[in-house]
Amino acid sequence: MTRGGPARPLEPQGSRGPGLREDGGGVLFGRRALLEMVVDMKALITGGAGFIGSHLSELLLRSGHEVTVIDDLSTGSLSNLAPVLEHRQFEFVRDSVRNETVMAILVNQCDVVFHLAAAVGVGLIVKAPVRTLETNIHGTEVTLGLANKFRRKILIASTSEVYGKNSKVPFREDDDTVLGPTTFSRWSYACSKMVDEFLALAYHDQWGLPVVISRLFNTVGPRQTGQYGMVVPRFVQKALRGEEVEIYGTGKQSRCFTNVSDVVHALVKLMECPAANGEVVNIGSPEAITIEDLADKIIAMTHSKSAKRHLSYEEAYGRPFDDLQTRVPDLSKAGRLIGYKPGSTLTETLQTVIDYERTQPGK
Ligand SMILES: NC(=O)c1ccc[n+]([C@@H]2O[C@H](COP(=O)([O-])OP(=O)(O)OC[C@H]3O[C@@H](n4cnc5c(N)ncnc54)[C@H](O)[C@@H]3O)[C@@H](O)[C@H]2O)c1
Repeated sequence: MTRGGPARPLEPQGSRGPGLREDGGGVLFGRRALLEMVVDMKALITGGAGFIGSHLSELLLRSGHEVTVIDDLSTGSLSNLAPVLEHRQFEFVRDSVRNETVMAILVNQCDVVFHLAAAVGVGLIVKAPVRTLETNIHGTEVTLGLANKFRRKILIASTSEVYGKNSKVPFREDDDTVLGPTTFSRWSYACSKMVDEFLALAYHDQWGLPVVISRLFNTVGPRQTGQYGMVVPRFVQKALRGEEVEIYGTGKQSRCFTNVSDVVHALVKLMECPAANGEVVNIGSPEAITIEDLADKIIAMTHSKSAKRHLSYEEAYGRPFDDLQTRVPDLSKAGRLIGYKPGSTLTETLQTVIDYERTQPGK
């Protein structure tokens, strides 16, 4: 365990409080009422050494909260947490969310749980489908079970992938999910996240657990790795090195990219919002761009001489791949519940990634 402040033993401490209780209109839980927690909460972030989790850690610490991160560093890294590692209200535990003994201690010690740990990234999912399914399903099962045992509010990070091949624009939370065949391993990610959603909603319905599901659309920003297929860091890294920018498929497929700062602010607001309990909420940006235009934009913004090269999915992934043409979020529910509105344009967001990648060794 790494901790900024004085060492604290990692020991079971028994139940911390009265548990979930209904009090007028608002649900109170854990040792303190929700409004008090907004001022001073102890958050457990699973997968907190990853891209989104590290930004969430920083935001919570800046707001005066305490943060514990559990991460097995499979795709995340301690360097993502460099700005907070020495913070006295921060601690890091290197372990898996699948370790129930350690997770029981950590969930018991916290007020709220942000569950972000997952196998993420199309490249990783296609290469390691067993790990994807086991991490995303069993890891969530453990985390939800313990959140229920200790009556802690939990936020589940789900994904727009669950909308699958539905061609509707924009996607609303109650739209159909349309997944491809099980022989395409990419759908295992969406399917695993759907199981997570079902389980979370079941805990809410059956046991009254305060749970909120955030369906995140493509999120980008500093620290995202291009290693597992994420398109923005991959394009920026290639453009900065003057290497070919590889576009998979026709390049006509479009995506909406959200600034990680907008996302982590939304996650905290969802945690603080009792009306969001039991809800699935899209978080994203409505600004769509085709992958071809994204490549052109990044090449122009980096003043790069990189050429573009088109690769079939089979060439890119070594097997056939089922892709989706477009994916745009309907953000009205997030607007209603937490006043969510993306604060950054795509150009501003891309600039943060370019600035970050320029500081990385080898650029
Ligand atoms: N980045 C996006 O565009 C995006 C979009 C939709 C949903 N999400 C969801 O947001 C969450 C965070 O994604 P991210 O982009 O930060 O990815 P990431 O890979 O950077 O973060 C995931 C973290 O989980 C950790 N992890 C994996 N397995 C673990 C285990 N068994 N125990 C403990 N830690 C483990 C990894 O080491 C990593 O630090 C994920 O749940 C993901 O599905 C992300």
